[in-house]
Amino acid sequence: MNLELLSAQAQTCTACGLAATRTHVVFGEGNPDSKLMIIGEGPGEEEDKTGRPFVGRAGQLLDRILEAAGIARESIYIGNIVKCRPPGNRVPTSDEAKTCTSLWLNKQLELLRPQIIVPLGATACELFMGEKVAITKIRGTWLDWQGVKVFPMFHPAYLLRNPARTPGSPKHLTWQDIQEVKRVMDALEPKAGSEIKTISQESLF
Ligand code: URA
Repeated sequence: MNLELLSAQAQTCTACGLAATRTHVVFGEGNPDSKLMIIGEGPGEEEDKTGRPFVGRAGQLLDRILEAAGIARESIYIGNIVKCRPPGNRVPTSDEAKTCTSLWLNKQLELLRPQIIVPLGATACELFMGEKVAITKIRGTWLDWQGVKVFPMFHPAYLLRNPARTPGSPKHLTWQDIQEVKRVMDALEPKAGSEIKTISQESLF
């Protein structure tokens, strides 16, 4: 099994009701050798249209956050808990999340074997970790999931609704969080074949 094959299989999935309303399955994309995988909740409208994760407004902000810390988007792997858009961007049900995780995300993780997972937002965190979480409490802390380092961060859609950059604001905390991710990523032994491209620019997103 490899990622391309798994992705090809996922394209025809009808295991849950989300299949009926999706345009594209959004399997995930990026560098399979990356130490880091970012996991969102599920595709939105733009992602459903294009079949690519995080390409709408929240995705563009995510790109700027990564870039500000010197992490090139294409150097890491980005995916979601559920691979099909929940109608109206509603939160995926726990049944949808469980079905999708057991069929696709778990296998994707087995193939990618990231050393760091960053779930974005409370919902992704909860669906991923399997327990209720307060994102304001656990963001910016290192957790363990089956031996993998997990570092929850705010969802960029939340940052779009909270644009202040004052100390202690969600954007300010996110700036600190992404630098911490970069610091730990750089300190880890590289996975064979990985290539982390850095950008010197340190502008705030
Ligand atoms: N929000 C998510 O959680 N995932 C995407 O791919 C896009 C927006």
